[in-house]
Amino acid sequence: MSVQVAVVTVSDRSSRGEREDISGPVLIEEVKARGAEVPFYEIVSDDPDDLGALLKRLADVDKADVILTTGGTGLAHRDNTPDVTLGLIDRVVPGFAEAMRTESIRITPHGMLSRAVSGARGETLIINMPGSPKAVKEMIAVVWPAVPHAVDLLHDRGLEDHTPKAH
Ligand code: MTE
Repeated sequence: MSVQVAVVTVSDRSSRGEREDISGPVLIEEVKARGAEVPFYEIVSDDPDDLGALLKRLADVDKADVILTTGGTGLAHRDNTPDVTLGLIDRVVPGFAEAMRTESIRITPHGMLSRAVSGARGETLIINMPGSPKAVKEMIAVVWPAVPHAVDLLHDRGLEDHTPKAH
């Protein structure tokens, strides 16, 4: 079965309709091109309670396999996405965030400013991605090769072979 992804854009301005969300649709297009389905797409403010309630619902009620957030990972005082995510996951799965930071820093020193977190809540994998459309496109290419196998493991299905082909 294809991976069921929830895309969550975290932005005060987009949630108020003051700025068109570009990164969410880019993320949707990128993961669909990789064979996933995206039954959930939400735009939420940077308010920790709103974001927390949404992530909880997507994981616990909607049972998304993967939640990809975009935005709110930096240092501005309204950047709450990593803190909310840390409060909700039962296990940190640091490799996704580590790989993104490693690759981001090759592209821009500002990659060091992303506090992105990745981890599991129950059977749902949550990955914070940076906010810009360019960054989202760059970073999905980094994390996606390990996502289907992560989903299988979280569902205790360890046997399917998603081994990425050597280049
Ligand atoms: N990662 C990649 N690959 N490309 C980028 O352009 N921008 C960075 C960083 N990660 C960037 C990136 C910048 S400028 C910031 S401030 C942080 O992500 C956090 O962004 P966010 O607050 O929009 O999540």
